[in-house]
Amino acid sequence: MWSVQAFVALSTLSGLGLAHLHADAADTQEPFVGWTREDLDAKWGTDYGFSGISTFAHLPHSRCLQYPETEYDIAILGVPFDTAVSYRPGARFGPRAIRAASARQTSFRGYNPRANLNPYAEWARIIDCGDIPVTPFDNALALRQMTEAYTNLAYTNVPAASSQSDIAYRRKPKLLTLGGDHSIGLPTLRALNKIYGNVAVVHFDAHLDTWHPAKYPSAWFDPNNPNEQSFFTHGTMFWVAHNESLIMENKSVHAGLRTRLSGIGDNEDDDAQGWTRFSTDDLDDMGLAAMSQSIVSHVGLDTPVYLSIDIDVIDPGLAPGTGTPEPGGWTTRELIRLLRAIDGLNVVGADVVEVSPAYDGSTEATALAAAQVAFEVLTSMVKKGMSANDPVGADVRDEL
Ligand SMILES: *[C@@H]1O[C@H](CO)[C@@H](O)[C@H](O)[C@H]1NC(C)=O
Ligand SMILES: *[C@@H]1O[C@H](CO)[C@@H](O)[C@H](O)[C@H]1NC(C)=O
Repeated sequence: MWSVQAFVALSTLSGLGLAHLHADAADTQEPFVGWTREDLDAKWGTDYGFSGISTFAHLPHSRCLQYPETEYDIAILGVPFDTAVSYRPGARFGPRAIRAASARQTSFRGYNPRANLNPYAEWARIIDCGDIPVTPFDNALALRQMTEAYTNLAYTNVPAASSQSDIAYRRKPKLLTLGGDHSIGLPTLRALNKIYGNVAVVHFDAHLDTWHPAKYPSAWFDPNNPNEQSFFTHGTMFWVAHNESLIMENKSVHAGLRTRLSGIGDNEDDDAQGWTRFSTDDLDDMGLAAMSQSIVSHVGLDTPVYLSIDIDVIDPGLAPGTGTPEPGGWTTRELIRLLRAIDGLNVVGADVVEVSPAYDGSTEATALAAAQVAFEVLTSMVKKGMSANDPVGADVRDEL
């Protein structure tokens, strides 16, 4: 179970002075005799970037699926699933790599100047819920496991202080999932649909991911033996989600597109599913302010949003450790600036996917980018939850 030690130890720097005084006195004492919880937290409760067990940003950890009484406002959830990829596998090691790369994020130095807040030291109780232990042998079972796990965790009660807040955004927990390949978006959308109804998707990616499953050679449509298992891939999950009517009509946006297509028909299929597209080049042509304003005005500030960030939206020169690299992408800085510029959106769930560390260099560039992107998403979630003008959105639906 998670402890409060990180919160307590880091809440005040004066604790460090206290620990020093007690350290002298402790030389003459029996081990631990007379030490209070606060003394121990102040003395031993803070890790360096390089010490400690690897959780995201040294956050407290709970196996939330096993301990459903765990309370949190925002949780990191690893989804180490990569058996629906079309090219390089290995994203099952993504959550591990991103956690390791987040090690220099600490609550004592987590202040984000652009947002004027430290997401790890504000109203939100943020914890690392660990990973979904998802099977690599059976994708149908994996899909079920991921859907069930996400649904359970996104329904879990937030702490009493948050649920009593005037700000509706605080009343349901938000999950930030670390992939895993991009197919994990389907179980997520199924779960979010149960909780919020239809949501819009704001999708940063070099690829459409709305492809019809028949556009892959694996789809053998045998009318005598119909089997739609091959429909579930990291390039088709938004097609399936649309097919299941999980996505809000005409509100979703792709940004950063640049991949080759089967033909212009791919874009027409995407149109028919109600998406709006911004290409990688649009950033140069429109400029960052115009593009971000266009995204926000298209989606709307009240709309519940699933923010899905495929790390391959960044150029593979800067983020090589990914499943389907596409040269000519944005810089890490451009992606981060865009994410900051859309921080008014009503994000009810988010992911960072497709980090495949075996293809990353010894610099951990891809995993570091993913960890930084996750930090920005957490910052924006916390900032959103501080605004008294926060729209109610759909997150306090009557049936809950
Ligand atoms: C979903 O796909 C099936 C084919 O598998 C099709 O018959 C059906 O019309 C589709 N539904 C929607 C809403 O796209
Ligand atoms: C979505 O866009 C299509 C095509 O423009 C239109 O026919 C449909 O009515 C729109 N749906 C909504 C809910 O606005």
